Formats: sequence, structure tokens, C-alpha cells
Amino acid sequence: MPRSKTFEHVFDEKTLFNIHKLESGGYIGKLLGPVGTGKESYIFYSTDPNGREVAVKVHRHDINAFKRIPTYLRLRGTRSSGFIKRINDWTRYEFAFQSRAFSMGIKTPEPYRVYENLIVMQFIGGDCVSAPQAIRDTDFDINAWYDEIIGSIVTMGKKGLIHGDLSPYNILNYQGKPYIIDFSQAVKLTSLTKGYLLRDIRNINAWFEKLGKSTITDEKDLLGEIDQTL
Ligand SMILES: Nc1ncnc2c1ncn2[C@@H]1O[C@H](COP(=O)(O)OP(=O)(O)O)[C@@H](O)[C@H]1O
Ligand SMILES: [Mg+2]
Repeated sequence: MPRSKTFEHVFDEKTLFNIHKLESGGYIGKLLGPVGTGKESYIFYSTDPNGREVAVKVHRHDINAFKRIPTYLRLRGTRSSGFIKRINDWTRYEFAFQSRAFSMGIKTPEPYRVYENLIVMQFIGGDCVSAPQAIRDTDFDINAWYDEIIGSIVTMGKKGLIHGDLSPYNILNYQGKPYIIDFSQAVKLTSLTKGYLLRDIRNINAWFEKLGKSTITDEKDLLGEIDQTL
């Protein structure tokens, strides 16, 4: 199936090959336009063979990502070397952490498949349009959202998982509910990574204070609830 020329130039040969593998394996249809670009990734819209909308996250084979990810991979306990392998490992970890969060009942796109530097997941939005980031669309119930997001941090934390980059940029407002995306910086909770958990809590507390929420749970209480030993 011919792919739109407009997308070809953004991908390197290896990534094009990987996309072709997913297409020819029948896991995704044609990539239908970018829905988002981050520092180290592109998100595309596509459909699976059942016509279900999917998002395809493509981790770029990019030198900046290559430099930045060793810290995360070390915290995750792997020491892969080599450009492509490192980015593949990084992608696999993101998929694994997001899958764990999803299985805990956290509202996050359901991850369907990981292949090399690509993740196929549930599309959060409709008719080719992503749900807006919560930083841009604050039309939601502040108290319910706070409880839901803090509840997610606590649920994940108790199971030893930290999102690591939680902010209104990585939360989509979909059908009035907060969907947590982007587990690319997720790590396991240890004494070494406790600071990341604290940062997530502080980001969320500061954001809701700015939104005008009057009762914010103290970060120390939350840390204590997650793990008495922290
Ligand atoms: N599952 C998804 N469904 C719909 N849109 C998505 C999905 N995942 C990501 N996006 C869009 O792509 C953007 C970047 O995704 P993100 O995972 O945060 O990438 P990065 O790691 O580059 O920050 C998001 O802000 C959102 O607009
Ligand atoms: Mg992001």
C-alpha cells in the first residue's frame, strides 16, 4: 500500500522498514497523518484491521534522545549499548510500564503492540483528532480530576511504578476524564528514584493550586501513603 509521500521524509530507513513490518503484518493500516510531535517522538493516527482507531508512537532515531536516555535505562536496570538497540529498549520499557499501569486500571491508552521503536496503542480522541492536552482544555471537574490523578499516582506508587513526567502536557482531556499518556520516562520506585515521584506529586499539586483547588493533599502524606519507608 503506498504511503503518503509527506510522511516519508521524517523517517529514517530503519523506521520506514519497521512501519512496513507492522503494516504488512496486518497490525496497522496506512499511517494517516501526524497527530502530535514531541521532543523525541512523532505520534501518528492509523486504524487496525478491525477499523479501530489506533495511535502509533514512533521514537525517532535521534542523537538527542540517544544522549538523554542512558540515565533512564540505567535507572531501569539495563545497560544496552548502540544507537538502535538503546532506542528499542527505551520503547520497550515505555510499552511495559504503560501496560502495567493499564492493567492496574489507570486511565491510559491501552497499549496494543511494541515493535522496535514503535508503539501501537488505543487512540484517545475521535475522527482523526486527538483529545486536547489538559493544559489547553481545563473544562473539567477540578475536584474529581484531582482525586483521579492523585489516586493514579498512589495506585502506581504502591505497586512500585512512577510515571516520571506527569504534568498537564501528558494528560489528555477525553470525554471529561483525565487520560495519562507518555510513559517514556517511567521508572520503578526505589530509594534512588524517589525524587521523580516527588516531582510528579509537586507538578500535579502546583497545577491544581493554580487552577484554584482549595484542598491539596500534602506531599509528605502522599509519600507516606505510598511507601512508609520513603
Ligand atoms: N494514544 C494517543 N491518542 C491520541 N493522541 C495521542 C496519543 N498519544 C499521544 N498523542 C498525542 O501526541 C502528543 C505527544 O505524545 P507523547 O506521548 O506525550 O510524546 P512525547 O514523548 O514526545 O512527549 C500528545 O500530546 C497527544 O497530542
Ligand atoms: Mg509528552
